Amino acid sequence: MTFDNGPLRALVQRYDLSGPRYTSYPTVPAWTTDFGESDYQSALNRFSEAPEPLSLYVHIPFCNSRCYYCGCNVVIKRHDPALGTPYLDALAQEITGVTQHLPAKPLVHQFHIGGGTPNYLEDDQTRRLFQMFHDRFEFAETAEISIEVDPRYLTREMLLTLKELGVNRISMGIQDFDPTVQKSVNRVQSVESVTEVMNWSQELQIGSINMDLIYGLPFQTAETMQRTIDQVIQLRPDRIAFYSYAHIPGQISHQKILDAYPMAEGEEKLNLFLNGRSQLIEAGYQAIAMDHFALPTDELAQAFNARKLYRNFMGYTTQPAFQYLGFGVSAIGNIAGTFVQNIKEIAPYIDSVSQGRLPVTRGILLTPDDAIRQWVIGQLMCHFEVDKAVFEHKFILSFDHYFEDEFKHLQPFIDDGLIQNKTATLLVQESGRWFVRNIAMVFDAYLAKQPQQFSRTV
Ligand SMILES: C[S@@+](CC[C@H](N)C(=O)[O-])C[C@H]1O[C@@H](n2cnc3c(N)ncnc32)[C@H](O)[C@@H]1O
Ligand code: SF4
Repeated sequence: MTFDNGPLRALVQRYDLSGPRYTSYPTVPAWTTDFGESDYQSALNRFSEAPEPLSLYVHIPFCNSRCYYCGCNVVIKRHDPALGTPYLDALAQEITGVTQHLPAKPLVHQFHIGGGTPNYLEDDQTRRLFQMFHDRFEFAETAEISIEVDPRYLTREMLLTLKELGVNRISMGIQDFDPTVQKSVNRVQSVESVTEVMNWSQELQIGSINMDLIYGLPFQTAETMQRTIDQVIQLRPDRIAFYSYAHIPGQISHQKILDAYPMAEGEEKLNLFLNGRSQLIEAGYQAIAMDHFALPTDELAQAFNARKLYRNFMGYTTQPAFQYLGFGVSAIGNIAGTFVQNIKEIAPYIDSVSQGRLPVTRGILLTPDDAIRQWVIGQLMCHFEVDKAVFEHKFILSFDHYFEDEFKHLQPFIDDGLIQNKTATLLVQESGRWFVRNIAMVFDAYLAKQPQQFSRTV
């Protein structure tokens, strides 16, 4: 595949670097352990002075087995209901600890249960989890309540429980349907079992269904990828997240297992994405921002078209989610101008909350410059465009003047035809979309000080 502005290969060679995925700015490596419990408390107090609707995230880290590509914070143990109880006890303590700094029953418009595998919990444990949050927060009638599930362990009874609890969005991990790929990454699941889960979800009218796919996994070829995408199209989820495999074996040691297998890189890897993208668009999906797809009837497509798409740790969302609280191990919050992350390991997390402490491990208080760059990077990642007039109105600053230095670094992208610097906007071109992470990196003030610790941008 070639673009008007030159062969794809040359662009990939130039721009396939290590770089952040910008689910936050400043990115996690810029946060510091100097930010502690008292900083989080101050942020909660500041929030309470002028409360806004909240988004909540809770992390359930347990999984039955390890998928070798996985970069999430997980605890692997073959199904053991006894694991859930002490963890839920600790979550209850954390919820009490956090909400004592907030006004009574703050309003929630988004609740996301992520993992790990939240459906690792028994049904009565899931009911308890919901009750703990309902006791301390007021859920809006229209609240978006979403959960990540592993379809290999989802039963119809569990889905029924989730429906009763008000869940209206389900995201399930698929990754790939090819048996060789699945075996290599230690995640075997059949199309038939996923079809069954889809049938139950439709029968129970759960709401919007998302499927996660990954390109760049071992043994994936143009042919296997095409088959997987065809199978996913047949299942017709409302949304599809088509992620680039983030391979960082230096930081995630179990990923080293996959180094023994052939994996597409560079141009070959990008072509897996571009071919899959064409298939999905042909099948009626709309491409949303960097790596998401949605049926035109889905809210995500509508939000993208109305320029009301946002980005956070869960990827793209229709909710502004400027005020976010995270609960559980490794959970991240974004509240009153700060990012805050919890302790990652279970034992010290339980220890911390049982002493009545807020289990903070690190965070950052955003400076005015951070907030400006955060907005610009968010616009690029969500809309491939920065409207200079909106910037000027929002920050009372001239975009061209404020980013005078950055424009020097943008020149190669302009020369390569990947972006256009117009009087009114900075516009990422169609061919520049695959390199939007590289373009965002120009606006990242911390990158030069960070050793290479991110996945490849292609
Ligand atoms: C918490 S998991 C999904 C829920 C459930 N545990 C499952 O596996 O079905 C979230 C998603 O992160 C994505 N993911 C995990 N590790 C990744 C990596 N190294 N690169 C790209 N995507 C990754 C996968 O697509 C996965 O479905
Ligand atoms: S992909 Fe899902 S099931 Fe697999 S290890 Fe990661 S969180 Fe667990």
